[in-house]
Amino acid sequence: MADLPTREDKFSFGLWTVGWQAVDPFGTATRAPLDPVEAVTKLAELGAYGITFHDDDLVPFGSDDTARDRQISRFKQALADTGLVVPMATTNLFTHPVFRDGGLTSNDRAVRRYAIRKVMRNMDLAAELGAQTYVLWGGREGSETDAAKDVAAALDRYREGIDTLAQYVIDQGYGLRLALEPKPNEPRGDIFLPTIGHAIAFISTLEHHEMVGLNPEVGHEQMAGLNFVHGIGQALWQGKLFHIDLNGQHGPRYDQDLIFGHGDLISAFFLVDLLENGGYEGPRHFDYKPLRTEDSEGVWASAAANMSTYLLLRDRVRAYRADPEVQEALVQSRVPELAVPTLSPGESVADLRADRSAFEDFDPDKAAERGYGFARLSQLAVEHVLGAR
Ligand code: GCO
Ligand code: MN
Ligand code: MN
Repeated sequence: MADLPTREDKFSFGLWTVGWQAVDPFGTATRAPLDPVEAVTKLAELGAYGITFHDDDLVPFGSDDTARDRQISRFKQALADTGLVVPMATTNLFTHPVFRDGGLTSNDRAVRRYAIRKVMRNMDLAAELGAQTYVLWGGREGSETDAAKDVAAALDRYREGIDTLAQYVIDQGYGLRLALEPKPNEPRGDIFLPTIGHAIAFISTLEHHEMVGLNPEVGHEQMAGLNFVHGIGQALWQGKLFHIDLNGQHGPRYDQDLIFGHGDLISAFFLVDLLENGGYEGPRHFDYKPLRTEDSEGVWASAAANMSTYLLLRDRVRAYRADPEVQEALVQSRVPELAVPTLSPGESVADLRADRSAFEDFDPDKAAERGYGFARLSQLAVEHVLGAR
C-alpha cells in the first residue's frame, strides 16, 4: 500500500481528465458529464492539491456572460471550500470547427486573431485564480498534407502568437509563465513542435524566451519512440521544465493517456527519480484519461491510482538510492565519474595536446577491456521496482 497523498505532494489533475466522457472516434460517451464543482470536491478528498482547466472545460463554449460568471463563481466557491488551488490553466484551441486548421497557425488570419483573443481571455481568469503557469498545447497546429502549409510561415506565426501572448502577460502584470506542450501527431497528422527538442529550439527564437518553457507529456514523447527521461533531463538542464503532464503509454501508437506508470513502468521509476532528485519543484500534474470501460467509481479509482503509483515509485526510488549495493554499483559503473569535467581545472587545449597520457601513451585496447556493469545496475533498479529489495 502506498502512503496517502497529501497537499505537500503537489498532485494536480486536469478538469478534462476525470471529466472525460469517453467519446472516441468510434464510440459515443460512456459516462455522464461531470460538474466541475464535484471534480474539485472529489479530487480534494482524494488528496490532490490542484486542479487545472481549459477555458471550455469550466465554461462551455458559447455561454453568455451571465452563465459564465455563475459557473466561475461556483468554481471559486468550491476552491475556497476545499482549499484546492489552480496552479495552471490552458485554452481549448482544438474542439470547435473554427480551429479545424489550427489556432495560432491557421492559414486563416481572422482565426489566428480570434485564437489569440481566446487565450488572452482565459489568461485573465488564470491570473485571477492565482495560476503560475499557462500551458499552450497546439493540438491543431499542423497539417495532414505538406501541400497545406508553408512551414517557415507557420513557425513565424507561431512565434508571433507566443510573443504577443507573452507581451500581454507582461503588460497586464500577470505572474504567469508560458509552457508549450509538444506532441508529434493526433489530432493532426503532423503537429508543429512535435518533440521536446523541437520546442526548446523554437523557444530560443522568442522575444521573451525567458518566460517560456515546456509542459512535456510522458505519452507524447513515447508516441514518437523517444526516451522521456532523457527529454526531461534535457528540459531540466536547459531550465525549461515549467510543468509536466504525467501519464502512461505503450510506445508508438495513438495517444493512450493511461494512468501514470501503467505504460513503461521502469521509465516511470527513473522519471520519478529525476523529478525528485533533479531540481523540479512544480506540480505533479496528471493528464490521463480514465479508461472508457469505467463508470464513475472507476474514474475516482483511476485518479487515486495515479497518485498512489507516483508515491509507490517515490518510495522505491528512495530505497534504490539508499541501498549501499546500488551506491557501490554506481561507482563500479563509473556513473559519478561523468560529473567530472573532461579537462582539468585551468587545463588549456594546448595542455591537452601536450598530455601524452591522454593519447600517445593511452592504451585503447586496455581501456576497452573493462565492462561498465550496467546490466547489474539496471537489474538492481528492477529489483527495487519489484519490491524485491
Ligand atoms: C492531449 C494533450 C492535452 C493537453 C491539454 C492541455 O490530449 O494530447 O495532452 O490533454 O495536455 O489540452 O493543453
Ligand atoms: Mn496526451
Ligand atoms: Mn497533456
